[in-house]
Amino acid sequence: MFVTVFLLLVALCAHGGNGEDSEETQRPGHVSVIIVGGTGDLAKKYLWQGFFQLYINQVSSGNTFSFYGGGLSPGEKATPVFFEILKAVSCTKDVSQERCALLKEQFLRLSQYRQLKTLEDYQDLAKDIEKQLQQEGMTEAGRLFYLSVPAFAYADIAEKINSSCRPTSGAWLRVVLEKPFGHDYRSAQVLASQLGSALKDEEMYRIDHYLGKQVVSKILPFRTENRKYLDPIWNRHHIERVEIVLKETLDVKGRIPFYDQYGVIRDVLQNHLTEVMTLLTMKLPANVSNSEEVLQNKLQIFSSLLPLGKNQAVIGQYQTYKSEVQQELNKTKDHVTLTPTFAAVLAHINEAQYEGVPILLISGKMLDERVGYARILFKNDVFCLQNHNNVHCKAKQIIFYFGHGSLQYPAVLVSKNLFKPAVTGSEWKEVTEHKDVSVLGLPISDYYVQTPAEEKEAYSELISHIFAGRKNSFISTENLLASWGMWTSLLSSLTSSFPRIYPGGAENGDMLDVRLRGKDISYNSEVVIISPDKMGDASANSFKVMQGKFRSADMVSAWTEELVETLAADMQEVAEAAIHEGGVFHLAVSGGSTPLALFHRLAVHHFTFPWRNTHVWMVDERCVPLTEPESNFYSVHENLLKHVKIPYYNIHPMPVQLNQRLCVEDDGGVLLYEKELSRLVNGSSFHFVLLGVGYDGHTASLFPGVKADQHGQSLVALTESPSKPHQRMSLTFNAINRAHKVVLLVMGKGKHELVTQLSRVKDALDKYPVTGVKPANGSLVWYIDYDALIG
Ligand SMILES: *[C@@H]1O[C@H](CO)[C@@H](O)[C@H](O)[C@H]1NC(C)=O
Ligand SMILES: *[C@@H]1O[C@H](CO)[C@@H](O)[C@H](O)[C@H]1NC(C)=O
Ligand SMILES: *[C@@H]1O[C@H](CO)[C@@H](O)[C@H](O)[C@H]1NC(C)=O
Ligand SMILES: *[C@@H]1O[C@H](CO)[C@@H](O)[C@H](O)[C@H]1NC(C)=O
Ligand SMILES: *[C@@H]1O[C@H](CO)[C@@H](O)[C@H](O)[C@H]1NC(C)=O
Repeated sequence: MFVTVFLLLVALCAHGGNGEDSEETQRPGHVSVIIVGGTGDLAKKYLWQGFFQLYINQVSSGNTFSFYGGGLSPGEKATPVFFEILKAVSCTKDVSQERCALLKEQFLRLSQYRQLKTLEDYQDLAKDIEKQLQQEGMTEAGRLFYLSVPAFAYADIAEKINSSCRPTSGAWLRVVLEKPFGHDYRSAQVLASQLGSALKDEEMYRIDHYLGKQVVSKILPFRTENRKYLDPIWNRHHIERVEIVLKETLDVKGRIPFYDQYGVIRDVLQNHLTEVMTLLTMKLPANVSNSEEVLQNKLQIFSSLLPLGKNQAVIGQYQTYKSEVQQELNKTKDHVTLTPTFAAVLAHINEAQYEGVPILLISGKMLDERVGYARILFKNDVFCLQNHNNVHCKAKQIIFYFGHGSLQYPAVLVSKNLFKPAVTGSEWKEVTEHKDVSVLGLPISDYYVQTPAEEKEAYSELISHIFAGRKNSFISTENLLASWGMWTSLLSSLTSSFPRIYPGGAENGDMLDVRLRGKDISYNSEVVIISPDKMGDASANSFKVMQGKFRSADMVSAWTEELVETLAADMQEVAEAAIHEGGVFHLAVSGGSTPLALFHRLAVHHFTFPWRNTHVWMVDERCVPLTEPESNFYSVHENLLKHVKIPYYNIHPMPVQLNQRLCVEDDGGVLLYEKELSRLVNGSSFHFVLLGVGYDGHTASLFPGVKADQHGQSLVALTESPSKPHQRMSLTFNAINRAHKVVLLVMGKGKHELVTQLSRVKDALDKYPVTGVKPANGSLVWYIDYDALIG
């Protein structure tokens, strides 16, 4: 049996070869492929298939192979699993069943599972490879390690490879890595330098599987082949906008422990979409196969990008994400996550060629359809008076269509009013017959369409490029760090931004539509209104801000974003009225995380807010230096005051630190604040007091156990919190209840339980201090978001 197989293979080989990948001149010989994590999901789904494809392509190349699946489990346990995975590989259509069966059998015979855990395991592997080379008198061509393991294990494995698995001289070493490559610039740099001490840059192949997509790897060749048409129009005079879009319909259930730390920007924009952006905008290299030139031109784009700030991004989160996080991370109901599952980012390249051209990068989960594309939309300078369907009146665009969506197959589309693109080589073909679909606003018949002659899986493509040593399709260290350089400041400026909550699927409607204004991007619909009776099956266009009663006071309720918007507008109205009447507006604000969204809103959107005549007071303060992040004042300053034009003598932090001590009664901080307040605020009545409610029912720093008359007529008091830091300074009920208007802001599902209790309990100040908030002559309004109200 064995002999027959062998002869047959020889016969097949003699006929088979047409010298694929012959552009590389590497010495033929024996190649050892080691997938570390060889029984994992990625290996199972793509990698073994990719290596089998490589094996088929190389059968007649003069190279021989051994394949190792490495893992942490001992061999007895993992070997059967390993072979089950291998048995699932398949051939492409052009391979006959008979030949396929033979190839598969041979592939399995060349493969084995190895435990790869300790340094000795790696040393043993190296010994076995060398022994085999000697016994069979083979020259070694190279060793390919594919690290399909979590990134934290990379450095350790790379070290083991360096110290014990380098090939014999003259042979290559290639080590393949998968994202994530860090989660910001710093961590990427640390990882890069750890890897750099074990591996040379040319030995590392960082995969971005997008670069294995046929349409993505067509971008540069397409731009080159059609240079004569594109050169005159590939610039700011002709390009209206560039869009790089990856829409997904899936949620992230099951991947949350990973996803919640990364979010859509790190998961997709920093890598896939950024790579596509550089391919579209970089200067064309004289030789597209020259990796060094391609890299340099890419780096040039990174260095010309205008910095991305908060105003260059909008973020969203699908509605059920929060509860999925609570469930998968075993968090309580009050756990809040700001991780975006949708982002739209607006980039600009500061080069004469692209000045003012908006480059949009958009991706999200739970959207209406699954599709990926990059579109270059050109300006249309033709005005059609009568026949708007005339070809000259239609959109002019080039679309690199990665797949799925209405078209279903990868393609490059050029609108017919632009030019007819060249079709070169045998790898791409023109499509002239298609079903009647429309792609980004135009019927397919309005485009010239090209598609790959044969669709290839991205991983198989990349594996063949790794084998051929084509570094173009991989992310070099410099490229990686440049990309993190682009994204890191945006990511840190978004850490406390609230994503817009979207229902998911087609119901998103126009909620996630964005508007470009100069260099800034924002959601197109400022206020999304939700009607409470529709909230179960939210249809996005009937949403509404709801007015009602809560604990017999007025209540305003809406989704978080609209609630914050409404509150900001209401606050501005009170401020303007107060200033109209007495020339000044006295505002007392709380610390904590609940008002951050409001502060952000005020800082970013309410440019007309009368800050110049506003005095900002603190409702309460923790007894820590005001320069500590824990300090309420610090947070109000960082999130609001430093962003607005407010005179510094209008800002009134609580004097918690006097004589280099914190909240010592003898230092008289309480009296000092009270004095200042009585002096500046007419009747000691603030115009507006913004309060929150703690899970235990406390408000300001008035905690359960507080007595109604505890602070007498004082306006300010030192209090004790059950949680750290224990000492606080706080306005008293007396001060709060003298105010003209008091707002209690309650947000987040975590507060639902509390809201339910509060709606039922009678006034019980000692148990629920918040029930002691009862302005004597002023008004109380509860602002409660739907998450807190409905749960
Ligand atoms: C690999 O290990 C050797 C010592 O075993 C060390 O000298 C070398 O710097 C390491 N790194 C690289 C990239 O070779
Ligand atoms: C382009 O670059 C590749 C890879 O460096 C090289 O093999 C090839 O000869 C170059 N082609 C030309 C025309 O210079
Ligand atoms: C979830 O958290 C609770 C309380 O923190 C703990 O008792 C429980 O063991 C946790 N369950 C899991 C699966 O981690
Ligand atoms: C102070 O408040 C009193 C009572 O509300 C009012 O009559 C008076 O006009 C106020 N003074 C100023 C300067 O606003
Ligand atoms: C409420 O108004 C009455 C009448 O104007 C006044 O006497 C009283 O002092 C006010 N109470 C507070 C707490 O401001």
